[in-house]
Amino acid sequence: MKCAILGPGGIADDQHAPAITAHPSAINWSVLSRSEDRGRAFADRHQLQSPTPVYTSLDSLLADPELEGVIIATPDRFHEEQAIAAARAGKHILLEKPMATSSDACDRMIRACEAHEVVLAMAYHHRWHDGHRKLQHQIGQGLLGRLRHMRVHWTFKAPDGGNWRSHPETGRWWALAANGTHCLDLIRWFFLPTEGEITHVASIISRAKFDSPHDESAVVALQFESGATAEICVSVQFESSPRVEIYGDDGWVRMENTLGRHGAGSIIHNGQSVSFEPRNPFLGELDDWIRAAKEGRSPEVSGEEGRKNVDWLLKAIKASGADRYA
Ligand SMILES: NC(=O)c1ccc[n+]([C@@H]2O[C@H](COP(=O)([O-])OP(=O)(O)OC[C@H]3O[C@@H](n4cnc5c(N)ncnc54)[C@H](OP(=O)(O)O)[C@@H]3O)[C@@H](O)[C@H]2O)c1
Repeated sequence: MKCAILGPGGIADDQHAPAITAHPSAINWSVLSRSEDRGRAFADRHQLQSPTPVYTSLDSLLADPELEGVIIATPDRFHEEQAIAAARAGKHILLEKPMATSSDACDRMIRACEAHEVVLAMAYHHRWHDGHRKLQHQIGQGLLGRLRHMRVHWTFKAPDGGNWRSHPETGRWWALAANGTHCLDLIRWFFLPTEGEITHVASIISRAKFDSPHDESAVVALQFESGATAEICVSVQFESSPRVEIYGDDGWVRMENTLGRHGAGSIIHNGQSVSFEPRNPFLGELDDWIRAAKEGRSPEVSGEEGRKNVDWLLKAIKASGADRYA
């Protein structure tokens, strides 16, 4: 698949372009940047193959008949417009999280992809971490008995309030969009098969460090149809070690440092180490998207899943009583 990347920023440079290079049937083809120079530097670094690899206009990039798919890795507010344009041009889409900044926007994106018969896959790469995959399967088969609780803790320390996620023109959430959306996806992935959908959400958010209009720390409590509970703690105010814990009637699992861009970390089940293959989760999500497009099937993480994630992020921030845009 000839792939373009929209937004040659951190995640595109660090993960998506290298994953395309490593994939046997993907080709790093073209890039969209607001700057010809930044686009050119990205094209050189990742050896983009198109005779015209750099675009500053989305319409021109999408008009390329050879282009087959786009990876959208721009700030969250731009996902809707770019995804709908790509769908109308008949290009398959691998979309960075969170899907968009409103539920209505997600619905419009899903409808456009259905109407133009393109595959829309959500980039929740933690689902391709080998240890996560193994456990998600085994827990679904009853490894921990009836599930009771899951806790996901993932924070980092932003240097200042300048990140685009902290500005309403480019983002809708900060910690919840950077890390919280991944935590929520992981919890729903593990719990939905046996515990049903989320039924209640409560939350507390803090903006105490940068006075950002958006959440700097968020503590979110969830309840599922079965009564099982979960909690998320995400923050951009302080550094810590990422941790996931899952508790059931027959035991527990603790994952240390499995969240992040790598496919590594460690996993303990009832005090015993769990072995898994450290492998690149970005390659896994890319491969699923390409295969889904080739086989004409749904990807593992669909636009519908992306929309549900956005719904719960919106509910979480509203439940805090501190949503400035409610
Ligand atoms: N899956 C993950 O683990 C993961 C990790 C990080 C980010 N993400 C997601 O990937 C997307 C991009 O995040 P990122 O961290 O890569 O961001 P980033 O480093 O800031 O890159 C975003 C790129 O978008 C382009 N852009 C276009 N309009 C922009 C604007 N008004 N302000 C800022 N950039 C603009 C910029 O390229 P030009 O200036 O060259 O146009 C920029 O390089 C987001 O949706 C984010 O949530 C996912």
